[in-house]
Amino acid sequence: MNDTPVITIDGPAGSGKGTISQRVADHLGWHILDSGALYRLVGLAAQRKQIDLDNEDAVAEIAKDLDVVFKANDEDEVVVLLEGNDVSLAIRSEEAGAAASQVAAKPSVREALLERQHRFQKDPGLVADGRDMGTIVFPHALVKIFLTASAEIRAERRFNQLKQQGISANLRGLIRDIEKRDARDTNRKDAPLVPAADAITIDTGKLSIDEVVNSVLAAVKKHI
Ligand code: DC
Repeated sequence: MNDTPVITIDGPAGSGKGTISQRVADHLGWHILDSGALYRLVGLAAQRKQIDLDNEDAVAEIAKDLDVVFKANDEDEVVVLLEGNDVSLAIRSEEAGAAASQVAAKPSVREALLERQHRFQKDPGLVADGRDMGTIVFPHALVKIFLTASAEIRAERRFNQLKQQGISANLRGLIRDIEKRDARDTNRKDAPLVPAADAITIDTGKLSIDEVVNSVLAAVKKHI
């Protein structure tokens, strides 16, 4: 078994996983796995190839053969290349998120991505961000964190993010989308969005980013 340490950070859309995982990984100098990006890439690749997202076998083939590269640019931001094309922005759209949630409900798609996710476990350590990192992908992780926040707060964060990017959005609509995505991610049979039995749950609703990062690092310090 690979004994490189792993910290898993799971939680629903907009709970702050991405930001917190990045900050914790930067602080420790560890690698990062953004597993949601993999599901987004599968959704996007299937749509670009005009494959029906409900065609499980065809989508699983895409997941198996996904030609993807994650690399840092000069500003140290992660650039995602799908078949050589920069899709860093395209995979962040609401549409790609919805497609990701749809393909992620298919067991053979999840199975096809499992080994690829395990390959991110490299020294000196890995911070893995997703929905099932602590339950399925890295069940022996050193520390498991589950982040939560109400749908309203998560939608508001998304609303402000979009506003900053000059994109207009409707808050009610965002709340509805988030609730729909939560329901699909939580109620699916395979690897549903639930905290691992040994996860530490942190409600990020009333906490600053620094406060959440510090709680995670405090939990990690007890183990390393
Ligand atoms: O974290 P995110 O919003 O980028 O994830 C996009 C979708 O991918 C999300 O709705 C559910 C799915 N997902 C998953 O099923 N398992 C993961 N480990 C990560 C994401």
